[in-house]
Amino acid sequence: MRVFVTRRLPGGALDRLAAEHDVEVWPEPLPPPRDELLTRMPELEGLLPLLTDRVDTALIEAAPRLRAISNYAVGVDNIDVEAASARGIPVGNTPGVLTDTTADLAVALMLGIGRRLVAGDGYVRRGEWRTWEPELLLGHDLHAATVGIVGFGRIGQAVARRLSGFDCTVLHSSRSGGVPIDELLERSDFVSVHTPLTPETRGLIGDQALRRMKPSAYLVNTARGPVVDTDALTAALHAGEIAGAALDVTDPEPLPADHPLLEAPNLLVLPHLGSATHATRERMADMAVDNLLAGLRGEQMPDQVNEV
Ligand code: DGY
Repeated sequence: MRVFVTRRLPGGALDRLAAEHDVEVWPEPLPPPRDELLTRMPELEGLLPLLTDRVDTALIEAAPRLRAISNYAVGVDNIDVEAASARGIPVGNTPGVLTDTTADLAVALMLGIGRRLVAGDGYVRRGEWRTWEPELLLGHDLHAATVGIVGFGRIGQAVARRLSGFDCTVLHSSRSGGVPIDELLERSDFVSVHTPLTPETRGLIGDQALRRMKPSAYLVNTARGPVVDTDALTAALHAGEIAGAALDVTDPEPLPADHPLLEAPNLLVLPHLGSATHATRERMADMAVDNLLAGLRGEQMPDQVNEV
């Protein structure tokens, strides 16, 4: 069957796919432009996209032979899952395998922004370090802090487990329980976002939420950029309404170098690296390939997000 993979993946998983199917892998570092994707769709039985590829109704409609979509991500907000289900097309994702890797990064971001790691690194490199000073680059402790986890799924819970080693008081707020989000925002020294992007969570951390946070508190986002309102965050950082933000994900992605958010003080920003370790990205490739192989055989995918 004909399969299109929208980027090269680490490890040997794609060789297993190519051993069974007629596979084209997009060779460029940037995502395939929309028209390149659209021209391939009529011939495809299988599609393995990345979170940077928008798989919407128009794309799915352009693929009458399509039998399986396997996302190289746990989040599936780039895919119109309803449209796929309506056509009976299974959609796969890669849950679990990146939980700990992403949770590690969330804690790294808390420490990075709270202890001013990037500011300190720049200070040394610019030759500004003259001597040890009692008040040089003072930050805030993560140990014993109150940390609010917004969204308490696999990754949120993994973050909470790590924070017990830092003697933190952990609050959480999610659809299924925890404290009300307003209370979490008001009490937390660090607010860490772990919700999927859905119509309900888009813009969840906006003007009002940021105003509820303490002026000494930090916002950390390793989930999806649009859960945080970028303009509201930019304004809050400039106004000193919160102490800082550490973002692995942004809206938009990529963030252009001249984006106003980058002018804001006390910001640490990364290019969506939550799952970016050799081992995890290789395991994700294995899972995505296993899902696609099963879908193409007409079997239930090992990790399938829809019922078809
Ligand atoms: C995902 O899988 O959804 C992450 O954002 C990237 O690994």
